Parts: sequence; structure tokens; C-alpha cells
Amino acid sequence: MQRADSSRQWRMIREFIAKLPQPQLIVPGNHDVPLYNVINRILRPMTTYQREIGVPLNPVIELPGAVIIGGVTAHGLTIDGGMLSKRQRRTLTELWSRYDDTRWKLMVLHHQLVNPPGYQHRATMRDSVGVAHLLEQWGVDVLLCGHIHVSHVGQTADSIPTLQHGTVICQSGTTTSRRGKSRERGAQSYNLLSISDTAIDITPHVYTAATAQFTPTAIYTVRRRDRRSIEQRSVEGVAASLDRIAE
Ligand SMILES: [Fe+2]
Repeated sequence: MQRADSSRQWRMIREFIAKLPQPQLIVPGNHDVPLYNVINRILRPMTTYQREIGVPLNPVIELPGAVIIGGVTAHGLTIDGGMLSKRQRRTLTELWSRYDDTRWKLMVLHHQLVNPPGYQHRATMRDSVGVAHLLEQWGVDVLLCGHIHVSHVGQTADSIPTLQHGTVICQSGTTTSRRGKSRERGAQSYNLLSISDTAIDITPHVYTAATAQFTPTAIYTVRRRDRRSIEQRSVEGVAASLDRIAE
């Protein structure tokens, strides 16, 4: 059971994090909220996480030409799906106001804002339309999220027509477990982002057992001037596409 009640598990994750390269931006998910300690789960859902991991709840990484900010969508309620509390919305509005649109803006939230096409059986983030409009107001170019264990690249404006330009969604699958779902059932994956002045390339990789390595499945290019249309091109020589994994 991967829950935030075991000191042994917290020690294991601290040791794992310590092996990863810097800089790191760490965002909590629903499994970082206590399950059995009901008082802490309801009243102080992030207290154990903050004590054990010791990083800010809204971490910020400034890179040349880009800024990445993390938010908290996990909560102590026994419902699926995340939410961005009023306090989080105020905090993030203040944080994003410090950065103008001359640099790329990337936001990291654990829960998915919308479900990928054909994937409808998990609750999305509460008030997802309101959150999508906030992302647009903050000028966020790319939203990085996870939770549902299947990767996807899309655009909030594809399903929310009231948005003007929307935000690119870069949905991650699962990298370190075998809990891949849907077309990535049992498969590990990750997304590699390459950021330049004019474009962001998103390259999903999926683990292929036959070659015992992660293989790129496609390249999605987001251009600064037109982030609403995402160019997708296939990767030459890739043996396993996502569709083949589903077979
Ligand atoms: Fe999750």
C-alpha cells in the first residue's frame, strides 16, 4: 500500500529523490495524503508530506527563458479527482504575477484537468473549466499532470470552447510502477521536454520489453506564436507505437 502513513515508505522515497539529479520540482499527489490518520487527512492533509519531504508546497524553478511552478491538487476528502483550493488559487495567482510572458510558463499539478480522448472513467479535477481559465489567465503555456497512469498530449481548448488560446496539456503515464492503464496497461512511460526560445518539443517515451529500453513514440511541437495548434510527427524507426502496445 503506497500511502502517507508509513515512516519506512517516507524514508524510501527520500532516498529515491536523493538519487535524482538537480534541479528538482516535487509536487504531492493523492497518495501523499494520510489514509488512516483521519484527523490529519481532513484537517492537515499536507503536514506529513511537508515534514517528511521538506520542500515548498508551491515550488518554483527559474530556467533561462522558462519558469516552472508547482501547485497542490491533492486533498483529504474521500473522493477521486483533484481540486485547486481557494488558497492555492490565490497563492498561484500571486506567484504567476511575478513573471511576464517573455518566458515559457509551465505548471505542474498532480491531477488531470481533462481526461484523454477515450478515457472517461476517472473523475477530472473539480471545476476543471474554471481551472483551465485560470491557467489561461496566468499565461501558462504547458500544464504537466499525471494521476491516471496514461500519457497524452492535448490542448485544454479542444474540450473547453470558451477558452481563447488554451493551454497545452502534457499528461504523463507512470514511470516507476507497473500501474500503466488503458493503452499503456502495465507499461512504464515518461515525457521528455526540450525547451528552446521558439518552441517546446514533447517526446513521450514508452518502455518496450523486447528491447528493454524506453522508446520515443512521437514528437509534439508547441510553437510560442501558436500554441493552440500542436504539430505531431512520428519518430522514424520506432518499433512500438502506443497502439501496438495496446494489442
Ligand atoms: Fe494520483
